[in-house]
Amino acid sequence: MKLRFPLKEFQQMETPFYYYDMSLLDATIKAIKKEIKDLPYEVHYAVKANGNPTILKAIAAHGLGVDLVSGGEIAAALEAGFKPSGMVYSGVGKTDREIIQGLEAGIYSFNVESIPELMVINQLAQERGLVAPVSIRVNPDIDAHTHRYITTGTAEDKFGINIEMLAAAVQTANSLPAIHLRGLHFHVGSQITQMKPFAMLCESVNTLLDYFDRHDISFEIINVGGGLGIDYDMPDVNRIPDFQHFFDTFRRNLKLREGQELHFELGRSIVAQCGSLIARVVYVKENRNKKFVILDAGMTDLIRPALYEAHHVIQNLTSQDTASDTYDVVGPICESSDVFGKDERLPVSHRGDIFALRSAGAYGESMASQYNMRRLPGTYFDE
Ligand code: LLP
Repeated sequence: MKLRFPLKEFQQMETPFYYYDMSLLDATIKAIKKEIKDLPYEVHYAVKANGNPTILKAIAAHGLGVDLVSGGEIAAALEAGFKPSGMVYSGVGKTDREIIQGLEAGIYSFNVESIPELMVINQLAQERGLVAPVSIRVNPDIDAHTHRYITTGTAEDKFGINIEMLAAAVQTANSLPAIHLRGLHFHVGSQITQMKPFAMLCESVNTLLDYFDRHDISFEIINVGGGLGIDYDMPDVNRIPDFQHFFDTFRRNLKLREGQELHFELGRSIVAQCGSLIARVVYVKENRNKKFVILDAGMTDLIRPALYEAHHVIQNLTSQDTASDTYDVVGPICESSDVFGKDERLPVSHRGDIFALRSAGAYGESMASQYNMRRLPGTYFDE
């Protein structure tokens, strides 16, 4: 089903802005809830994907938990109505102030990424007469075969604790007076479209659980992070990711222990397809061998193409022209990487046409900047 954009309204609006299809967001979350309803599974929405307050409120209303990475995100999640009992907090560099913020909010778990961090959390909790719930983030050394900038689970990455150091970390956690060790945390990477890395992760977790069983150590939860990818090439065909296949992979491969819960931290797969960046053509320009469509949106509004060589489907929503032409679609920023698409086949385009960059709901608005002293993009919520 093709997304129908309210073009008439777009034409009255100042561009660029993010358009959010809230009914698609709703349908996406319902699809997740349907898959996990009879399972001891909990999904935490990764706020970093999109922290817009309206989006957060809509997700909170469904009762999902949240995965947070900063004090700012803790505050935004509380403000949006997420319950502290569903909050997990990751990050290799949590500051004292942020840890205190998490402790005072009473979050469900700190995903701890190093022994020094564990020590600091213990001390800060002890000083306040609190006990900090934590999960230890394990680096499973799995190559998710995704873009080199968004792989996080290999041994060379800065994230988590290496498997060979895990037993010692668990022992330390269990010996600290103000730490309550809830479980183990993993995350192998992002935009993963094959189930193989997730199945490999399940194998690693099984091996670790067997090991800890032998040492009489058990965990309340296993948190396998996020990473489920979306279809950037066909956003209208695959509007909702294949959550059934994803959760089935864990259900079939992971041997959870009696009473153990499985937690997930999904970001992109929840919000990517419901958002599009809407922009206007400022100029159509012709150089010797090339035609350029110059938009009023640039890498400051959507940095993924410039940063990760990512491609978002580009549509001219205005032009009814059946004739087409080949354009490089670029932004106005003074950087040569400010390109959304090269050699794009599009209807003949004109100044003033409205363009949509699809699948931009995740890591779009949340990564926008004001470089070149630009305004941040606006928003439009379609109920
Ligand atoms: N949990 C942890 C510990 C993470 O580091 C991440 C994402 C997630 C969960 C959520 O992953 P997701 O389900 O969204 O794949 N800016 C990049 C993506 C960075 C992902 C960072 N970590 C992009 O635009 O592709």
